[in-house]
Amino acid sequence: MENIIIFDTTLRDGEQSPGASLNTKQKLEIAYQLSTLGVDVIEAGFPASSVGDFESVSLVAKKTKGPVICGLARALSNDIDVCFDAVKYAKKNRIHIFLATSPIHMKYKLKMSSEDVFQMAVDAVKYAKNKISDVEFSAEDASRSEIDFLCRVVEGVIDAGATTVNIPDTVGYSVPSEFGEIISKLFSKVPNIHKAVISVHCHNDLGLATANSLSAAISGVRQIECTINGLGERAGNASLEEIVMCIHTRKKLFNFETNIKTTEISKTSKLVSSLTGIMIQPNKAIVGGNAFAHEAGIHQHGVLAKAQTYEIMTPQSIGLKSSSIVLGKHSGRHAFEKKLTELGFKLTVKEFEKSFSDFKALADKKKNVYDEDIEAIVENEFAEEKQIYELSDIFISSGSSVKPIAKIKLKKDKKLFFAESSGDGPVDSSYKAIEKIVGQKFKLVDYSLKSVSIGKDAVGEAIVKIEHKGKIFVGRGTSTDVIEASVKAYLSAINRILRTRV
Ligand code: KIV
Ligand code: ZN
Repeated sequence: MENIIIFDTTLRDGEQSPGASLNTKQKLEIAYQLSTLGVDVIEAGFPASSVGDFESVSLVAKKTKGPVICGLARALSNDIDVCFDAVKYAKKNRIHIFLATSPIHMKYKLKMSSEDVFQMAVDAVKYAKNKISDVEFSAEDASRSEIDFLCRVVEGVIDAGATTVNIPDTVGYSVPSEFGEIISKLFSKVPNIHKAVISVHCHNDLGLATANSLSAAISGVRQIECTINGLGERAGNASLEEIVMCIHTRKKLFNFETNIKTTEISKTSKLVSSLTGIMIQPNKAIVGGNAFAHEAGIHQHGVLAKAQTYEIMTPQSIGLKSSSIVLGKHSGRHAFEKKLTELGFKLTVKEFEKSFSDFKALADKKKNVYDEDIEAIVENEFAEEKQIYELSDIFISSGSSVKPIAKIKLKKDKKLFFAESSGDGPVDSSYKAIEKIVGQKFKLVDYSLKSVSIGKDAVGEAIVKIEHKGKIFVGRGTSTDVIEASVKAYLSAINRILRTRV
């Protein structure tokens, strides 16, 4: 299998996404995670562009172990000097020089002749080569450049010492067949091309960045430049997670491998999203919130029977615990039944049919039906016959200088049970008293309390989660007295556990 070098430019091109500015500390945090993810090269910034960028690149170079640390520079000696000063601290470092080679960029932006551009590119690479061995050259807007001139520049910079030559689709204009052809032409026309690694850097203006990058890889490139979540200038860059998971999922087709630890993808994506403040669209491939969620009844049935019916990669392969079955109006009986089991309900056929029709009616009115809604449906229908232990009375004594004591009276099968206990506070004391009555200790894994109405007499709602035999049982209780709400919540979770045994 051929290895594809993953060059991550989240901290440089990704940071060029409007509104995505990162401070030095945040950049370092992302760099550490990129290193754990296993990227081969981190483009940490454009040191000559600002003092802040210089500092970030230097810090990433000093502190990040593993990947090559790269900085971007224009084909100017001052940019190259500044870039070198920033990346010099890294054990493995690279200077990445770019210069446009397309007629439109040379005429209107650079205002230079092609001859002068050629010379400037070669001179810049030679200049950088005196400082550092690893030099990358990018022919900016390569996909709109004249192919013979592009070949000449590629040959010239390789002769000048470039170790990687990047062919960017800077404006995301190319399409896969055409871009693959450009790469094939370079491989057939540039005599010294095998002396350098050929790379691509595709933008997503037409939504083709991933496809163009993979087409280029099929035509011979061995480095792909990409970003986490596809961040980048305008519509962004090729997204790392899409490139890597394409290669991973279609291994036999591509015959490529990468050094990426795919199980770190989800974590990295979430970190970048939270630090840049750029949300991931729910239907984004691989890392979107819906990428492993199933709503349609036919799909849910299929996935529950055999995940591969509707999943081409496992959620675990990108670091997620599991896929999700979203209950909504398209969901069917299988998904509803699975959710009831997860929530600890065991219903008779008649109860199930009634709950299912209530659920369908609710789903018609409400986009998403959450666990709490299902609980409410089932509990409203069957609460009376299903309560095993009910709160009959509660007495608490507590204060800043007295030991809290809870006295609890519960009713079960019309009989009353009483227990008293002390603990770390009134809630803990009452939970201990309940456990004495039930004759069993429970593992509380989450407890939350919030107000569900306004004012001094607001109703408090407690939600508890108890772990039992590897499953989570949720309990909810409401009251104007928060201790009573907490006790009701604990009892409702315990009842649910006990019900699963009946
Ligand atoms: O899009 C582009 O051409 C770039 C270069 C600097 C590589 O970002
Ligand atoms: Zn770019």
